[in-house]
Amino acid sequence: MSEPVVWSSRPSGPIRGELSVPGDKSISHRAIMLAAIAEGSSRIDGFLEGEDTRATAAAFRAMGVRIDTPVPSQRIVHGVGLHGLQPSSAAIDCGNSGTGMRLLAGLLAGQRFDSTLTGDASLSRRPMLRVIEPLAQMGAHIEAESGLPPLRIHGGRSLRGIRYVPPVASAQVKSAVLLAGLYADGVTELGEVHATRDYTERMLAAFGWPVELGSDRVRLAGGHRLRATDIAVPGDFSSAAFFIVAATLVPGSELVLRNVGLNPRRTGLLDVLREMGARIDVEHPREQGGERVGDLVVRHAPLRGIEVPERHVPDMIDEFPILFVAAAAARGTTVVRGAAELRVKESDRIATMAVGLRALGVGVRETADGAVIEGGALHGGRVHSRGDHRVAMSFAVAGLVARSEISIVDCANVATSFPGFLDAAREAGFAIETPAG
Ligand code: S3P
Repeated sequence: MSEPVVWSSRPSGPIRGELSVPGDKSISHRAIMLAAIAEGSSRIDGFLEGEDTRATAAAFRAMGVRIDTPVPSQRIVHGVGLHGLQPSSAAIDCGNSGTGMRLLAGLLAGQRFDSTLTGDASLSRRPMLRVIEPLAQMGAHIEAESGLPPLRIHGGRSLRGIRYVPPVASAQVKSAVLLAGLYADGVTELGEVHATRDYTERMLAAFGWPVELGSDRVRLAGGHRLRATDIAVPGDFSSAAFFIVAATLVPGSELVLRNVGLNPRRTGLLDVLREMGARIDVEHPREQGGERVGDLVVRHAPLRGIEVPERHVPDMIDEFPILFVAAAAARGTTVVRGAAELRVKESDRIATMAVGLRALGVGVRETADGAVIEGGALHGGRVHSRGDHRVAMSFAVAGLVARSEISIVDCANVATSFPGFLDAAREAGFAIETPAG
C-alpha cells in the first residue's frame, strides 16, 4: 500500500472571487447509463471527470458502448439500445461508487448475460441487500456474500414489475428498481416515504420513456425505447457546499459560485445554513435541461447552532460532514437526528466526523442516528478522513477557521467526486499544502 496522501489546511484570509464547481455526480452517472442503452448518439456536456463517474463510463465501454471524449467534461455516447449491451469480459470495477454499483445492479439484472460488480475497500463494506431484495422480488438473481460486494448478477431472467416502497429513503434503491423496471413485464411502481433526488425518473422522461410522476410515487412500464438526447449537467451542489460553508465561516468573505444545480431534493443545506444565520443569495435562477440552476452569492455571517429539522435530512444527505464543521464553528449547540444512513456512506460519517472534530477540541456526542455538536473554537491537530472524499474536503474547510494547522490524513479519494478541489480551493483563498506542494 502506498503512503496516504496528507493535506495541511491553515487559517487563511477571506474566501473571495468566482468559481464554477464540476458537474453533478448523480446526473453524470445517470446520463452515461441512459445514453448507453438509448438508440442514437447523445452528447453530455459538463460531465464530471471524477473517478466515480469515469468508472461508470468504463463499465459501459467494457460492455461494448463507444463513448468519445472530444474535450474534457464532454462525452458522446453512441447508444446501443435497450438490448444491445455485450457481456464484459472481466468483472466491472465500480471503484468507490455506491451509486454506480447500485444503479448498475438494477440495469444489469435485466440483461441476457451474467455480470460481476466489484468495488474498492470502502464500497466492499457497503450494504447491497437494499437493492438485491427488491430486484429479487422482480425475479432477478443476484448473489452477494453477507449482502456485500462483489455482486454476481445472473442474466437471462425474465423480470416482472413490482410495487415497492424502500424502507430507507434512498434515490439509489429507487433508481435501481426503476432501471430494472425498463426490462420488466408490466408496471413498476416506487413509493417514497421521504422524497429523494428524482434524476432517474426525470431523465428517463427526457430520453422519451413514458413515466408517471406523482408527488410521492413513480410509475413506469416495460417495453418502451429510449431515444438519444443531449444532457447539460449543472454544477454539483454537494461540491459547492464546501465553498458555501467556507465563505460563510471566514470573516470578510464574499464568493460567487456559478451554475450550481439547485434541485430542491439536493439543497436542504441552504435551508439549514440560513436558519443558522448564513447569508446566501441565489442569483439568475434558471432552468437548464429541465434542472433548476442558479448562481450562489455567499457572504460571511456568524452562525448559531440549531436542531436540524429531520425533514431536511434526505435533501442534504451528502452534506452532513460539512454541516458538522459549520456546527463546530457556530455559537451554541447543533443537534442532528434521523440520519442513521450516514453510518453506511463512503465511511461511517457520524463516527469519522465525531472522532475528527474531537481531535480538534470540539465537544461532539454521537448518537445512533446523529450527533450533538457543541459549537465554539476549533484548534489545530491531526484528523483522519478514513478515505472519505467529503470528510477530507470538510476538514480542509475546518482548517480555515482553526487556531492552527489541521493535517488531514488520506485525501486521495477527493478525486472520486472533485478532482480539481485543491486548485479551486487555493484560488478562492484556502491555504492548503500537500506533499507535492
Ligand atoms: C445518490 C444518492 C444518495 C447519495 C449519493 C448519490 C444518487 O445515496 O448519498 O451520494 O446519485 O442516487 P442514497 O440513495 O443511498 O441515500
